Amino acid sequence: MKPKATSRLTIRRPDDWHLHLRDGAMLAAVLRESARHFARAIIMPNLVPPVVTAEQARLYRNRILAALPSGANFTPLMTLYLTEETDPEDVALAHADGIATAVKLYPAGATTNSGSGVRDFDRIRPVLDRMAEIGMPLLVHGEVTDSEIDIFDREAVFIDRVLKPIRKKNPDLRIVMEHVTTEDAVDYVRDTHRNLAATITTHHLIINRNHILAGGVRPHFYCLPVAKRERHRIVLVQAAVSGDPRFFLGTDSAPHADHAKLAPCGCAGIFTATNTLSCLAEIFEAAGRLDKLEAFVSINGANFYRMPLNDDRITLVRGEPVIYPATIESGEGTVTVFDPGFPLHWRAET
Ligand code: NCD
Ligand code: ZN
Repeated sequence: MKPKATSRLTIRRPDDWHLHLRDGAMLAAVLRESARHFARAIIMPNLVPPVVTAEQARLYRNRILAALPSGANFTPLMTLYLTEETDPEDVALAHADGIATAVKLYPAGATTNSGSGVRDFDRIRPVLDRMAEIGMPLLVHGEVTDSEIDIFDREAVFIDRVLKPIRKKNPDLRIVMEHVTTEDAVDYVRDTHRNLAATITTHHLIINRNHILAGGVRPHFYCLPVAKRERHRIVLVQAAVSGDPRFFLGTDSAPHADHAKLAPCGCAGIFTATNTLSCLAEIFEAAGRLDKLEAFVSINGANFYRMPLNDDRITLVRGEPVIYPATIESGEGTVTVFDPGFPLHWRAET
């Protein structure tokens, strides 16, 4: 007799270790989508202008807290956008005061609003040294930006050209490779037993590059790092469902209004906040590893960040497919919700 399919799954409330909330009208619209299910999130600093100083992070956090729906229990964990001018002491003070949890490294030009990012990695050494001393994590957007490097190779090249040298000079620095998309990155993290972890997004567990390009171009599947070949996606799923403590969820939910996505030069970013948990439950179930979902969404990240696990629980219920809204309205335009392309049977009880 077939064992009865699991129909209810209760796990610790999850956290999102990589999230774009934006600001203003967009913030108000998307924040509730994350606050509904997630207890904490690492908030990306790539606003215009970017969140560079402790004071900017404090003000941005206040704006997020003010935009929370009443009764929401959600803690934004702020990050500072690393520039070549960043002051190591400002960073250390922001960390000591609990204003900034981590620092984000964008190579200049790598992605949306990364123009103020780093060009000369030697110039950020004093900040990295200070962060290593105080145990503050560095979150890296792991792609080189040189135009001669093929966009599908930019993550693998970043590991060799940038990440390995940084880790060699500063092995005590705690690093999260954000939104890994390749077998190369997964292997590198697996082979490293100290001070290195990786986030994996919801969408990179579901789409490969055919989804973006075969049979017509689909801007709503375009994000950075861009999705790779199917064999990479399979390795990402294996890493996510393995329970390995070095891999955890960072949705990289990145809203852009449709008019900015569906344009001759469309923005990178996929908005998954609304249906992320349903998508993930489906993936873990298909892999026969629902028992590892809690590690991926609720445990591994908190442990890496040396934060307490959330005490409260949420229950996922399996039933008839859940119909999510295809779009949400933002005041800055319509935002399309990620369509995984398969029915979602799991719904989080709120
Ligand atoms: C992000 C955004 O829109 O801010 N876009 C994306 O494709 N992921 C930036 C980023 O995280 O690279
Ligand atoms: Zn991101």
